[in-house]
Amino acid sequence: MRAVVLVGGLGTRLRPLTLRTPKQMLPVAGRPMIEHVVAHLADHDVDEVVLSLAYRPDAFKTSYPDASCAGVRLVYAVEPEPLDTAGAIRFAAANAGIDERFLVVNGDVLSDLDLSALLSFHDDAHRRGGAEASIELVGVDDPSPYGAVSTEAGGRVSAFVEKPPVGEAPAAVNAGYYVLEPQVLDRIPEGQRVNIERETFPAMVAEGVLYATTGKGWWIDVGTPERYLQASLALVDRHPDGSGVVADSAMVATTASVTRSVLGPGCRIGRNARVEESVVFSRAVIGNGATIRRSVIGASAVVGDAATVTDVSVLGTGVEVDGGAHLAGELLPGPDAWPSG
Ligand code: GDD
Ligand code: MG
Repeated sequence: MRAVVLVGGLGTRLRPLTLRTPKQMLPVAGRPMIEHVVAHLADHDVDEVVLSLAYRPDAFKTSYPDASCAGVRLVYAVEPEPLDTAGAIRFAAANAGIDERFLVVNGDVLSDLDLSALLSFHDDAHRRGGAEASIELVGVDDPSPYGAVSTEAGGRVSAFVEKPPVGEAPAAVNAGYYVLEPQVLDRIPEGQRVNIERETFPAMVAEGVLYATTGKGWWIDVGTPERYLQASLALVDRHPDGSGVVADSAMVATTASVTRSVLGPGCRIGRNARVEESVVFSRAVIGNGATIRRSVIGASAVVGDAATVTDVSVLGTGVEVDGGAHLAGELLPGPDAWPSG
């Protein structure tokens, strides 16, 4: 089975972390997000991943120069300009010569959903009901950041509403995993920006050829700093060490305390500092007596002595926080914010 993995978005909601690094190359518990995604696909017999790239493709190519990731063969499909979700799928499939049933995955979703069950569901819906595509759904309390999906008995989709208004009741939403028959590609005009959620899927709903099934398991779309932290902590909790995922080269003072956190390579945690439910990127420095709580400290950032950084604050690469400062819920882009050229 081949899978097109969409990794070409700008990741604007995760700035400043994504100013230089594509969202799917951000480390989650010590490994780039894309490696978690590809390893999950490999568990369900995917043997080739077509990476659908637009923003900063070189970040992927230099990290996987032999075109292999988590033991799976990679094909790079780089759009001349971002073509949006459906345009990207059409472009990637053409690039890789896909002309059979295939999987499509939003590359910023981490989960342990049973994709083999999705494939069997689709096989059945295709044979019995003429399904051209099947979507995996998950239940959420607030559907507004996602695509809300209603189904009839048997799984035929009766409505697909991307980003419904805030305040709607809990609902089943698009989990970002699709099985597509190759004829779906013919529905997408070539070389144009087309959005699968707002254009292609609603058209398929009208024709009764879109199906969906609800999966059970862990699922998270890592699209915002809050959810990036949540995903990191969830993986920390599954880690045998329990208290954290700490790179071998991280330097932690013996009097510092680190709980449910991720410490990147070469970072330094000072004396009596506290790092709680946070992610500290490579080479960042946390001063003596500083407190980091539920926050993300970018690469090479420096937090001064006795400063506090809390409540989903995000420091960009190289940001410096003065000793004794108090940051709560702040986004500091830093010197990286306006890359030259
Ligand atoms: N190649 C390419 N080109 N990839 C793109 C482009 C593009 O122009 N635009 C977006 N992507 C990629 C993103 O990198 C991401 O992996 C995926 O497509 C989805 O885009 P997001 O921007 O993350 O969308 P979202 O999170 O708001 O909503 C989507 O995901 C939800 C579940 O995770 C939708 O599919 C929702 O319906 C869904 O519920
Ligand atoms: Mg997303």
